[in-house]
Amino acid sequence: MLRLVLIGVLVALASARRSPHADYVEEYVKAEGAGRYSDNIIEDALLDVPDLVKKYGYPFEAHTLTTPDGYILEVHRIPHGRDQNNTPDSNKPVVFLMHGLYSSSADYIVLGPGNAIAYVLAEAGFDVWLGNARGNYYSRRHVTLNPNGGRGNLDFWQFSWDEIGNMDLPTVIDHIIETTGQPKLHYIGHSQGCTTFLVLNSLRPEYNEKFVSFQALAPAAFFVYNEDLSYRLAAPLEAVFEEILNAVGYLEILGNREFFTFFATNFCVDGLIAEACHAILNNANPEYYNTTMTPLFLGHAPAGASVLQMTHYGQSINTKKFRRYNHLPIKNIEVYGRPTPPEYDLSKVTVPTYLHFGYADVQADYRDINYLGDQLPNLVARMPVDRVSFNHLDFVWGIDAKEQLYLKLVDIMLSYH
Ligand SMILES: *[C@@H]1O[C@H](CO)[C@@H](O)[C@H](O)[C@H]1NC(C)=O
Repeated sequence: MLRLVLIGVLVALASARRSPHADYVEEYVKAEGAGRYSDNIIEDALLDVPDLVKKYGYPFEAHTLTTPDGYILEVHRIPHGRDQNNTPDSNKPVVFLMHGLYSSSADYIVLGPGNAIAYVLAEAGFDVWLGNARGNYYSRRHVTLNPNGGRGNLDFWQFSWDEIGNMDLPTVIDHIIETTGQPKLHYIGHSQGCTTFLVLNSLRPEYNEKFVSFQALAPAAFFVYNEDLSYRLAAPLEAVFEEILNAVGYLEILGNREFFTFFATNFCVDGLIAEACHAILNNANPEYYNTTMTPLFLGHAPAGASVLQMTHYGQSINTKKFRRYNHLPIKNIEVYGRPTPPEYDLSKVTVPTYLHFGYADVQADYRDINYLGDQLPNLVARMPVDRVSFNHLDFVWGIDAKEQLYLKLVDIMLSYH
């Protein structure tokens, strides 16, 4: 009984902190020296992206879009800077950022003003747009399908990154072009955010001409050279995995952001459990990882995905091929007109491409990224990050991500304007 009461109090406290009142936000913005980093890790962990961006005095818009197959996506926009380039201007270069697996638009703002890539770009003069893939915390809606519980939810979750690239991205890109009046934009993807770009432009090559450049951060496409043991062990199980989860009626993965936020803000602040939280997030790079920020990072990621996104990567690891989703042969014939899925034709991806990678990245191995580079017809540069210990998560959470990477991206992209 006492335990129930305690849990009740914790939940009540957590939900009370969940709705910081608007006056606070306005006062904060007016206050002198609105900070560089987060000024309150717990509060920032609990806020959603819209309130978090507004809290630090940045202009913000949320756009709600519907894909042709009925998914309702929330796209975020920071149309200009706060300290520099801080007036609306329809001639600004436009940039769109797409997050990785299990993540959301929060990836690009959690490092805070002065550090996070979305703010760095807005200050440098870009009109910044942040995507949210179907099924994540911000895009977990559909015009008819229900993502929650019960057998019905399986229909909602029948998608992998093929659909995110083939359906979500065109919807978002068309909307950005229509809204800004700019015919072309830059695309920055992290990991799966690159996979989806390659899917889009190979399946719908007419989209190539809508991009000025493709900044690929740790692109996930090929797993030919990757020797990561967990991949090698788990990948062969992908089909079994999908079948079991289908049978038990559960295809969402790491989708309960409320739980992770609650856990992170209550248990990942200090003590033994907090050490475990840091260890999960900073895989082996403590000197370039800010442990103070763990509750904030974990409060925003994971943000949910479909199991099929994971199994699709499992297929890539098994086959060593970058190809469309492998359903049962009968369904493959129905969808692709053949019993096995076709490969994505990378010769059709003609956007000027920059490959950025870290030598210590075990998720997206530099040899696989080199191999990807060999397949792309318009590769401009292969750009390893200078710090050789730079890893997969440093692209979004690294202490030195701005110096190592973001400022370089700004330079490259501005050179087109
Ligand atoms: C780590 O994060 C905290 C809170 O955002 C900040 O105050 C501190 O300066 C950061 N440390 C480094 C080394 O970046």
